[in-house]
Amino acid sequence: MELTIQRDVELGDLNTFRVPARAQRLVRIEHAAQVRAVVDHPELGLLPKLVLGGGSNTLLARDPPGVVLRIEIGGVRVLDDDVQATRIEAGGGVGWHDLVCWSLRQGFAGLENLALIPGTVGAAPVQNIGAYGMELAERFESLDVVDLTTGRAATLDRAACRFGYRDSLFKRALAGKSVITRVRLRLPKPWRAQLGYAELQRHLERAGVRDPAPQEVFDAVCAIRRAKLPDPARLGNAGSFFKNPVVNRTIRNEILAEFPEIVSYPLEDGTYKLAAAWMIDACGCKGRSVGAAAVDERHALVLVNHGGASGADILELAAQVREAVRARFGIELEYEPVVV
Ligand code: EPU
Repeated sequence: MELTIQRDVELGDLNTFRVPARAQRLVRIEHAAQVRAVVDHPELGLLPKLVLGGGSNTLLARDPPGVVLRIEIGGVRVLDDDVQATRIEAGGGVGWHDLVCWSLRQGFAGLENLALIPGTVGAAPVQNIGAYGMELAERFESLDVVDLTTGRAATLDRAACRFGYRDSLFKRALAGKSVITRVRLRLPKPWRAQLGYAELQRHLERAGVRDPAPQEVFDAVCAIRRAKLPDPARLGNAGSFFKNPVVNRTIRNEILAEFPEIVSYPLEDGTYKLAAAWMIDACGCKGRSVGAAAVDERHALVLVNHGGASGADILELAAQVREAVRARFGIELEYEPVVV
């Protein structure tokens, strides 16, 4: 299998924070078999490997050592379409939002709540992307991976991927150890609008839409996101930088007693998700900056690069925000992106 090794490659355009970093070596992966070829390669085989998709969930705080594998495996197809569901398959390098648009154009509904999420199809399962009342796991069927140590390929079903809130096997036992080459999704029929997220419901009500079609849900999600989240194509960012912390009822009640306005959501297992954005905002961190890195003025969960920030600036800012929240609420925020 042919491999092209590019050397000393600037990664600024390959990460959505647009921070500078240099890869000693970069290999573009267009076919799953090339991953095996990297593993078996005399020069690349034993080097540390960083897997990059759209670069929307990675903070490059230093030059990555070894080799960067940029996943560009394309291809989207319908596996089958019957009365119960449509099953589709996409290459790991396909843009996630492109897949959502493609499926809607084909008349397959079911991904519209996940519109406009940056990143690739192969990166989507890593953090179990989610927004507006839906998580990837709900539409996920299986994926193909190639192990970066052995070069062996395997197929993992939903249970094997151990999905949780912004979490999966690929952030834990398999972190940095495999490449997701292909993903299969199942869009169940009949389609039903998923309007559990209050903001989405309100938006549609205000627009006078009663019984929304998939395209109307898609349009509403895009409008909400565009109104409150910065577009990575215009302003460097990686979406939410912090996860919403999940706490037990006792801790939630203690915090609620002291901060009655705190926003929290009950989860099915009796725990509570606290709105990290609300806490960061309450600490007065919105607009706080380190160099050209800043907490976004519109949404406190998002760190942005106003131009010229380094990965280290963003990491320093993140640490300051985390410390402010810890000092005020006694809660340790977790970062969502993978920090290199
Ligand atoms: N809020 C503030 N200040 C802010 C922003 C929000 O007080 O600056 C309050 C809001 O008023 C709201 C609460 O915080 O009451 C929650 O805000 P929002 O509804 O925007 O959702 P979120 O919990 O902050 C999560 C996801 C987003 C996703 C939205 C919508 C995480 C870490 N983030 O944000 O995902 O789009 O819900 O479902 O779970 C991403 O992961 O990159 C991402 C953008």
